[in-house]
Amino acid sequence: MNIPLSDNIDWIGCVDWTVRDFHGYDTPRGSTYNAYLLRDEKTALVDTVRAPFAQQLLANLASLTDFGQVDFVVCNHAEPDHAGALPQVMARMPQATLVCDKKCAATLAGHADTSSWKLRLVGNGERISLGRRSLQFLETPMLHWPESMFTYVPEEALLFSMDAFGQHYATAERFDDQTDFATLMEEAKTYYANIIMPYGKAVLAALEKIAALPVRTIATSHGVLWRKHIEKITAAYGDWAAHHCRPKVLVIYDSMWGSTAAMAEAILDGANQPGVAAGLIPIRQSNLTRIATEVLDAAAVAFGSATLNRSLMPMAAAALSYLQGLRPPNKVAAAFGAYGWGRGGPEAVDEALRAMDWEILREPIRAHYRPTPEVLDQCRQLGRLLAERAMAMAGKAECSDDSAREER
Ligand code: FEO
Repeated sequence: MNIPLSDNIDWIGCVDWTVRDFHGYDTPRGSTYNAYLLRDEKTALVDTVRAPFAQQLLANLASLTDFGQVDFVVCNHAEPDHAGALPQVMARMPQATLVCDKKCAATLAGHADTSSWKLRLVGNGERISLGRRSLQFLETPMLHWPESMFTYVPEEALLFSMDAFGQHYATAERFDDQTDFATLMEEAKTYYANIIMPYGKAVLAALEKIAALPVRTIATSHGVLWRKHIEKITAAYGDWAAHHCRPKVLVIYDSMWGSTAAMAEAILDGANQPGVAAGLIPIRQSNLTRIATEVLDAAAVAFGSATLNRSLMPMAAAALSYLQGLRPPNKVAAAFGAYGWGRGGPEAVDEALRAMDWEILREPIRAHYRPTPEVLDQCRQLGRLLAERAMAMAGKAECSDDSAREER
């Protein structure tokens, strides 16, 4: 179904009601792949969809215009959830010119045979007129790939923001004022934490770029579009990108026979102080997506693992590896865990926490087989210390990511 945004500007994307695993990201509410059609003197398709949805996109487009009428296909981002359908789209409209930046063209050529496509490379600030309206391209490198780009329609104050401000959120509604706001912000935060978090500097640069532009609608590539709460979502992005933390203590752990769990409970007990949000995350009863989202705005983290095969528990290793990739800065932390006839769990956690440049408050707390009352007392003291530090740190900002570090 197509949804009009404005006069002859339509959402023609696809709702993915069934996806629950988006390359490892848990998506309990599904997702959408948003694409848009602008019909003016010239016609432009902005972004496409994941390859299995190509025929649905083409049918949506065909209900509004002939394939032969499409002059431009804009690719804001080369990741396959938005560009996967491009080969099928370009095959149906060979007269159309693919519009993207130089890095995007190179990435697309790595994914597909683009040799027969007409190509127009655009740079930051460049414009293409469609007639009454125009497309202006704003390069937003590392938000969250090197080739990422926004497309702005000045005459409509409309911003196509690709992944930025998006959510994995399948709904029948297309706009922010039609959905439950708390759910929408929860999904936007989850999306930020799991996709955008390592690129805070790129986010701040993009926010600065669009601050000078009138924007009435932010048309994202996932989830619902923003038209009522634009200030709220851009302010939230500013906050997350600056790594503002809350007075929040997370106790994340994996236990084998209950000893590490008892230590976690004691840390939580100590962290439960007035004004502090303290929470427990048993890793195997949670998931990596939720852990990253909770860590995003936490000031303090206690991370525990029992010892298994002279190292840490496998799901604890997965959580730490995931966090190391996302690299949330500006945390205080400490390791804890139990061991028996072999050592290794809490030590491996400590090493991983230090590798993230978090401030480590103390050497790991260890319990030999079962935590003694003395060890549980150390845990409660750690919880109190983490709570004190979380209160002191809340509201302070630090942005120390390296947005140019990698391509995914
Ligand atoms: Fe939704 Fe980076 O792709």
